[in-house]
Amino acid sequence: MAHDTIFRVNSLLNGIQGFYMETINIGIIGFGTVGTGVAKILLSNSHLIEKRIGVRLHLKYIADIDLITDRGVNLNDGVLINDADTILNDPDIHIIVETVGGDTFAKNLLLKAIEKGKHIVTANKALLAKHGNMIFEQALNRKISIGYEASVGGCMPVIKTLRETLVGNKIQAMLGILNGTCNYILTKIAYEKSPFEAALEEAQKNGYAEADPTFDVEGIDTAHKLAILISIAYGMKINFNDIYVEGISNITPLDIEIAEQFGYRIKLLAISKYNGNAVEARVHPTMIPMSNLLSGVNGSLNAIAIQGDAVGNMALYGYGAGMMPTASAIISDIADIARDMISGAKIRVPALGFQNEHIKEIPVLPIDEVNTQYYIRFAAIDKPGVLSSISGILGNHHISIKSVHQKGQNQQGAVPVVMMTYRAKESNIQAALKEITALHIIERDPMLIRIEDNNQTI
Ligand code: HSE
Repeated sequence: MAHDTIFRVNSLLNGIQGFYMETINIGIIGFGTVGTGVAKILLSNSHLIEKRIGVRLHLKYIADIDLITDRGVNLNDGVLINDADTILNDPDIHIIVETVGGDTFAKNLLLKAIEKGKHIVTANKALLAKHGNMIFEQALNRKISIGYEASVGGCMPVIKTLRETLVGNKIQAMLGILNGTCNYILTKIAYEKSPFEAALEEAQKNGYAEADPTFDVEGIDTAHKLAILISIAYGMKINFNDIYVEGISNITPLDIEIAEQFGYRIKLLAISKYNGNAVEARVHPTMIPMSNLLSGVNGSLNAIAIQGDAVGNMALYGYGAGMMPTASAIISDIADIARDMISGAKIRVPALGFQNEHIKEIPVLPIDEVNTQYYIRFAAIDKPGVLSSISGILGNHHISIKSVHQKGQNQQGAVPVVMMTYRAKESNIQAALKEITALHIIERDPMLIRIEDNNQTI
């Protein structure tokens, strides 16, 4: 049978089982970087997508307040409009793609779309991290599908992997590089000795950074993403506020250099572990051994290593930001919704991957309770007895030192004294550092970076 004939037969079968549809109409709200990418794919690959999913995806409207800027996309007259309500009120629009960002206008938009019975696709992690519980509930009540694959890890199918591929697994741990901007900056400093600001500017130029780049560099964007992932992994209500967050703005080239000498790289990691009672969920710069897969993930690339009780260790890797990778994830959500529509399925996969009645409130472990290994860099006066004073205090707080390294010599002033510890409790580390910092031999607040060794988790 010729390919076209098979395709037509499939379409007919779809029509018998579900709804026969020739086209699914899409409205994009927000014609920025991501919206442009979605339009480009819909226009350039629509035949290919149709062959795969059995229905044509038609880009009916794009709404944006800026009708002037040339985005390099050839749209027919009347497609670009400046009024989102036209899309919301059009009964022919089946799926709305929200690429506006932020959590005020976008929130109202999504709620209105649900009210109007439109399926939704969004990349808006900030919105879902804050209001996801309410939005998902409203959508469930109206039997509306919400696709949000692009909200975490750009093109990496991490949400599909957790909700569907790993459906048979207890998820034990996740370690992720989830912010392209931070990874780009850290890579530029490590490999090209770029200044922080210059690297951030480049990330902004490349369209990786958030509208407010402090969301990137202070770890908030990563925490938004982690909040979403732990909800799906463990079946818990989205809880962003209890996630411990520390960004990369305090990381110095000196720490990156010392880490390298010890055989480590510094990455901004989203870390979660679940022991069945409480979830460890934290975002902070982390030293990982160069032998760890994640240490080789550079530039705007993202990666996530997941440990499940059946699957063991697995990882996903891909561009976490930027126009086309993010748009690719949005298209995958559109295709999933379109396939459900033509087969007649409604919310085949629940928003958080668990049936609503099984979504619980699971506590997030306070950072003070976390046990891990530490890198501590002191600016200490270079004279006899300094090391024993520091190590004495660490010992009093049950902290065992794994290695010590002093960089350079300086009879007059301070030198960097670096210690790596075995696993210790965060509250003990913080109490010890407070005591050590008060010593007259210490010049500044110490730098503390948590370590994830290969044998520690994944
Ligand atoms: N600002 C985000 C990043 C965009 O840099 O990864 C993708 O969520």
